[in-house]
This record gives sequence, structure tokens and C-alpha cells, in this order.
Amino acid sequence: MSQINHHRPARIGVLGSGKGSNFKSIAEASMKADSAFEVVLALVDQPNAGMLDLAREMGIPCAYIDPGRAGARLSPDGEKRFIEALKEAEVDLVALAGFMRILQGPFLTAFPNRVLNIHPSLLPAFPGLEAWKQALEYGVKIAGCTAHIVDQGVDTGPILGQRAVTVDEKDTAETLHLKIQEQEWDLYPEILKKYWIGGLWRREN
Ligand code: GRF
Repeated sequence: MSQINHHRPARIGVLGSGKGSNFKSIAEASMKADSAFEVVLALVDQPNAGMLDLAREMGIPCAYIDPGRAGARLSPDGEKRFIEALKEAEVDLVALAGFMRILQGPFLTAFPNRVLNIHPSLLPAFPGLEAWKQALEYGVKIAGCTAHIVDQGVDTGPILGQRAVTVDEKDTAETLHLKIQEQEWDLYPEILKKYWIGGLWRREN
């Protein structure tokens, strides 16, 4: 694979399933002067995802793509539809932002080392669903979020950056999640920029 081109903004496709607060932070960062990236496409696998409304409000090309089946994975045809839309938009990087599907071989082969994710825990602790609740139930005193490269595992890819937050005794699942998300909104655009510019580029195929 060719090296990342440092001399133009990265074309980013964002994939989500939910309210889209991380999408919003990435899209807002991309609209600043001299941004290292631009969001060229927003795709969701849920027709009612708030992210779709946000993208429309922000004037960013967006679409619901039929995932082909319910559950943790896309169907092979569904995965193909996502790949085709992203290829057509000529994306350099894919940012998963609350995308509730495990991506399989064909997707990761189509965008090798170019799919990033944000996860609401300090990986490798608490992979999987509702990580902030897992952290709270376990009783950790420090929680946080992790930006990482996506591989075939669940929340297992190489770590690019992390932010920590303190868990207070009065924290509930809601307050802890919000504290973590506030860090995500700052961390994810920063990591996308650094990854594209090259400082965090670690692996060739
Ligand atoms: C975030 O907390 C992220 O860490 C996780 O899913 C959540 C998505 O939230 N992967 P939003 O849709 O970006 O608001």
C-alpha cells in the first residue's frame, strides 16, 4: 500500500448507528480553516439514526445503507454496499463513530489500516457494549476512551490515543458516559489528524 499523502486533506467517511455526537465533533473540526481532513460522506445502518439528521443539517452527503440483516454483523451484500459507497466517495480513511457492527474481512481488506474507531473505555479493559457501565460496575477509579485502528477482533486493534477521566463516587452510568464522551469529542478529531499527517502511522499491510 502506498504511504499516506501528507499534502492534502484526508477524505473521511464516517459510519454510525446512533445519535452522532462523535460524527458532529469530527465534522465541525473538518470545517475549520486548514483542517487536515474533510468529511465527505456519512453512512448509517439505522434509518432513524440521529447522525443522519445532523449530517443533513451540516450539508454533508449522507445515506442510510441497508445492512442486510439485524445483529452484530452486516450481511455480505450489506458489507459490499458500504464498501461501494465509500469507494465511490474516494475516502482515504473510515471513522467508525458508534457504528454497532463488527466489520469483517472484505471491509478491512478494502481499507487496510484505514479504519479507525473510538471506544468508551481504556482498552484493553472493557471491550464490547456499554463499556462505561462495565467500568462503573467493576469499580474502577479511572475510566476513559480509546481511539484505535480496527482489526478483525472486537475493540482489539492497535491503540492510537487515549484519554482518562476520574470516576467519582456520585457518578451514574449517565454522568460517567457524558464525561467520557466529552473526551471522545476532543480526542477523535485530534487522532484522525495525527494519523493522516503521519505521526501515528505504524503499520504497512
Ligand atoms: C460513543 O460513546 C463511542 O465511544 C461508541 O459509541 C458511542 C457513540 O456515540 N463507540 P455517538 O453516536 O457518537 O454520540
